[in-house]
Amino acid sequence: MGLLRSLTMLMLQLWLLRPMKLGAQNVSTGNFSSARALDMILQDYAYEAFVRPRTGIPYGGRVPSNLTGINITAMRLRSGSLRTRGVKTYKEFEIPTGVIVRPYVKRLVLVYQNLGILSEGYYPLPSHKYLAPVLGLLAYNASNLSATNLPELDIGASGDPILVHFSSIRPAPAGSVPRCVQFDLRGLVNFSDVESGNTCSTKQQGHFSIVIESIAPSPSPTFPPPPGEGPGPSPGPSGTSRSWVVVGSVLGGLALLVLLALLVFWVQRFKKRKRIQRMERAADAGEALRVTRVGDTTAPAAMVTRTQPALEHEYVP
Ligand SMILES: *[C@@H]1O[C@H](CO)[C@@H](O)[C@H](O)[C@H]1NC(C)=O
Ligand SMILES: *[C@@H]1O[C@H](CO)[C@@H](O)[C@H](O)[C@H]1NC(C)=O
Ligand SMILES: *[C@@H]1O[C@H](CO)[C@@H](O)[C@H](O)[C@H]1NC(C)=O
Ligand SMILES: *[C@@H]1O[C@H](CO)[C@@H](O)[C@H](O)[C@H]1NC(C)=O
Ligand SMILES: *[C@@H]1O[C@H](CO)[C@@H](O)[C@H](O)[C@H]1NC(C)=O
Ligand SMILES: *[C@@H]1O[C@H](CO)[C@@H](O)[C@H](O)[C@H]1NC(C)=O
Ligand SMILES: *[C@@H]1O[C@H](CO)[C@@H](O)[C@H](O)[C@H]1NC(C)=O
Repeated sequence: MGLLRSLTMLMLQLWLLRPMKLGAQNVSTGNFSSARALDMILQDYAYEAFVRPRTGIPYGGRVPSNLTGINITAMRLRSGSLRTRGVKTYKEFEIPTGVIVRPYVKRLVLVYQNLGILSEGYYPLPSHKYLAPVLGLLAYNASNLSATNLPELDIGASGDPILVHFSSIRPAPAGSVPRCVQFDLRGLVNFSDVESGNTCSTKQQGHFSIVIESIAPSPSPTFPPPPGEGPGPSPGPSGTSRSWVVVGSVLGGLALLVLLALLVFWVQRFKKRKRIQRMERAADAGEALRVTRVGDTTAPAAMVTRTQPALEHEYVP
C-alpha cells in the first residue's frame, strides 16, 4: 500500500525533524558569516566615536541607518591596566582582574555591542526565544584608531570570570527556565545557568544573551504540548511553538483525511469485486451450450470443445 507507506515515511521524517534540545555545548549555528560581517562593520563605526579619546572612558558610537536598533560603545584601555585593575562596569559587563590579552598589545579597544531588535536576525537560535538583547564584547588593537577590518584579539579571564549583568530581561513564561547563551567568534554556542537572576559568566569574549526554549522537549513526537504561555508581557506568543501546534493539527487532519479516503476506496473496491464476481457467476450459469451432432443423436457441447460427446457403443470393438 504505497499511500500508507508514504504516510508512515512522513510521520518518521516529522519525528526526525523534531526540535532537538540544545543542552549540549559547541552547537554550531547555521550561517555565521553575516554576524561576523556585522562585527567588522561595528568595529569600524565604534572606532569613529574616538576623537582624542581618553583611556578608560566609554564613547557611544553611531551606526548607519540600516542598522538602527543596534547600540555600540568603544573604550580604550592599556592592557596592563586591564589585567591588574579590570573594569568595574562597562555597560552590562563587569571585567575582573586577571584578563589577559593575546597577542600582546600596549593598548586595546573593547567594543561593546547591543544588537537590540536585530539580535534574533543575526544570532538565530532554533526553538529558542530571546528574553534579552544579544550583547557583544570584542577586543581590538588600539594602536591605529583609523584602522578598519581589524581582527579580534584574544582575551581570556585567567582568574574570575567576566560577568554580564543583563539590565532588562523579559519575564520568562511560566514553567520555562531561562538559560545563558554564549556565542564565540567561530559560531559555537554554549548554554549555562543564569546566576543571581540576571547574570551570565564567561571566560572569553563573544556574544551573550538569555534565552528560553520555546518548545518543551516531549517524548511524543508529532504532538507538541500546548505552549505554556505565562501572563507575562512577553511580546507576542512563542511563534515557533504555536506554528508547531498548527503544523501538528494540519498534519493530523490530513492524515485522518487520507485514512478516510483509503477506507472509502477500499469499500468501493470491495463492492466492485463483489459485483464482478456476481456477474461472472451469472454468466457461467447462463452459458449457452451448442448442440453438436454425434452419430445420429444431438448432444450439448461446450463452446470450448472439451471431449467431444460420443456414443459409447460405437467404440465397443
Ligand atoms: C567545545 O569546544 C572547546 C574549544 O574548541 C573544547 O575545548 C571543548 O571540549 C568543546 N566541548 C564539547 C562538549 O565538545
Ligand atoms: C551566509 O550569509 C551571507 C550573508 O548573509 C551570504 O552572503 C552567504 O552566501 C551565506 N552563506 C551560506 C552558506 O548560506
Ligand atoms: C548598510 O548600508 C551601507 C551603505 O550605506 C552598506 O555598505 C552596508 O553593507 C549595509 N549594511 C547592512 C548590514 O545591510
Ligand atoms: C541605544 O542608545 C539610545 C541613545 O543612546 C537609547 O535611547 C536606546 O535605548 C539604546 N538602545 C538600546 C537597545 O540599548
Ligand atoms: C597593532 O597595530 C599596530 C599598528 O597598526 C601594529 O604595528 C601592531 O603589530 C599591531 N599589533 C598586533 C598584535 O596586531
Ligand atoms: C592606520 O590605518 C589606516 C587605515 O587602514 C591607514 O591608512 C594608516 O596608514 C594606518 N596608520 C598607521 C600609523 O599604521
Ligand atoms: C563552551 O564551554 C566549554 C567548556 O566550558 C569551553 O571550552 C568552550 O570554549 C565554550 N564555548 C563557548 C562558545 O563559549
